[in-house]
Amino acid sequence: MAFYNSMSQFLFPLIWCSILICLSSGFPTSESSVSPSKAEQDFEMFQQWMAEHGRFYPNSEESNTRFQIFQRNLKYITETNAKRSKSTYGYRLGLNKFADMSPEEFTQTYLRPLEVPANIAPASSSSSYVQQQDSCAPPATMDWRKQGVVTPVKDQRRCGSCWAFGATGALESVHAITTGKLVSLSEQELVDCDPLSRGCAGGWPHNAFEWVVQNGGISKEEDYPYVARQGRCKANMHDGDKVVKISGYSKIPQSDDALLCATSKQPVPVAFNATDLQFYKSGIYGGENCPEGSTGVTHVALIVGYDSKDGTDYWIAKNSWGENWGMNGYFFIKRNTNLPHGVCALNAWAYVPNV
Ligand SMILES: *[C@@H]1O[C@H](CO)[C@@H](O)[C@H](O)[C@H]1NC(C)=O
Repeated sequence: MAFYNSMSQFLFPLIWCSILICLSSGFPTSESSVSPSKAEQDFEMFQQWMAEHGRFYPNSEESNTRFQIFQRNLKYITETNAKRSKSTYGYRLGLNKFADMSPEEFTQTYLRPLEVPANIAPASSSSSYVQQQDSCAPPATMDWRKQGVVTPVKDQRRCGSCWAFGATGALESVHAITTGKLVSLSEQELVDCDPLSRGCAGGWPHNAFEWVVQNGGISKEEDYPYVARQGRCKANMHDGDKVVKISGYSKIPQSDDALLCATSKQPVPVAFNATDLQFYKSGIYGGENCPEGSTGVTHVALIVGYDSKDGTDYWIAKNSWGENWGMNGYFFIKRNTNLPHGVCALNAWAYVPNV
């Protein structure tokens, strides 16, 4: 294979380095001195992973850097899974498509600390904003996917546009629930046109809803396709734009019960801290490392249902990192926790569009 040769160019210096470390320090006594066989094993996994994900690097310097990051991530994933094996949540990490990105790089590329106070003002002062009523009788379990009102998982790619995907997801579903027609909607229109959000640099679903109200609707995905970068606003250029219209949007009161009630009526976009989801593979994420009591959030996903397993209640959430992340693009996150803002603050900033 073509990349095998270029890979071996840097594997040998690496082994050679390890040997030198061993020679200069006597026998390896600590975990930190990597033995050649461990490096070889890791390298084999790296090659398999590269083949599986069709990943190629422009030069051996880049390959070398990526391999080192991969090794650190592999160590973290293995250690974290070992620690969690006794946990009832069954939350597992894996070598997914982000395995060659450092957590810092991942955070910078995919996550945005959403600036809370400044962005909340337009919502509550707008006439489109109405307070959600919270009386309902939610069924014991719910999965909107089974009703055929959720579009396939999308991929935001290298653009901090999670907020636009959360917004279109909510609009697609509420439209399908009320009309029986499932139409994929344009994130790109929101990225280009919503003046209250910042395109690929982050934003809020409720600001996107405000734009859809003001604009009188939102375009179909196929009429305004996703390009993963911000450009000039090209809204309302064709007949049939504004395919889905809404009258306004509501803030969901900050509690598990209110979110449950809202989710039993329609899928709900939530903002939360997703720092720990880089290597998520399966199971119920419990927000193990999220700062307790914080309302700081970095990402948006769409809650499309809820269920329980072995006494642990969880939300079913649709992400926008492609179908080859998590469980076919979805993840489970714990609910009914008594945390003031929910797991990783996901109860704090939930808004729904009203038709
Ligand atoms: C998100 O959680 C991580 C720990 O997983 C923490 O280091 C970070 O500060 C949190 N971010 C925000 C914006 O609260």
